[in-house]
Amino acid sequence: MCEKQGRMPLIGEKAPSFKAETTQGTVNFPDDYKGKWVIFFSHPADFTPVCTTEFMTFASMQDEFKTLNAELLGLSIDGIYSHIAWLRTIKEKIEYKGMKDVEVNFPVISDLTMEVANKFGMIQPGESNTQAVRAVFVIDPKATVRAVLYYPLSNGRNMQEIKRLLIAMQHSDEHGIATPANWQIGDDVIIPPPGSCGAAKERVESAGDDVECLDWFLCLKKCPHKEKGV
Ligand code: BEZ
Repeated sequence: MCEKQGRMPLIGEKAPSFKAETTQGTVNFPDDYKGKWVIFFSHPADFTPVCTTEFMTFASMQDEFKTLNAELLGLSIDGIYSHIAWLRTIKEKIEYKGMKDVEVNFPVISDLTMEVANKFGMIQPGESNTQAVRAVFVIDPKATVRAVLYYPLSNGRNMQEIKRLLIAMQHSDEHGIATPANWQIGDDVIIPPPGSCGAAKERVESAGDDVECLDWFLCLKKCPHKEKGV
């Protein structure tokens, strides 16, 4: 067991490749996702209450993620027939917070051998030897891991936060900016800190209508707009 346990792929590393059976057929990662962001997440088990609320929420937001050029990909240590039965039950029977008749159209990996979960450090024995923790890997269009979240079995994730983080990272890539605490689309963004004394001086002196410097290392400017998916 210990030998097989993978370490989590770190931010900035290529995400491990794999081939897996899913509720939507075979997935070859990353080849099937060229040019797209991937939100790859694990859940502990099918037919469990917290996971059910998470799946309904993710599925209800699938179009919002697609608008952001991002695909959802789930995984648990369950068989395909269990996945299918659970997703059918969700669609046919479960109504939660105004969501009903929810169809989960994104692929959910059946990982009974734990091969994929181990590659991504999703089995964390302090929490469970048989169930994946609630992991989220945000993987960019070049298959590089850009963000990693791990939650315990007992607590559901905030899908709005995952979407917010994705938008923030896309803004950073596109505009070379950083985003402050609790940033939301439309809020001011941070200009990366200057790398030299000269640049710091210039930054503060040139601050004007569109740049506000609280000090030489903390300058903000208006959010470069991007409407899609918000
Ligand atoms: C749940 O999804 O509800 C759950 C799964 C495993 C342990 C505890 C809760």
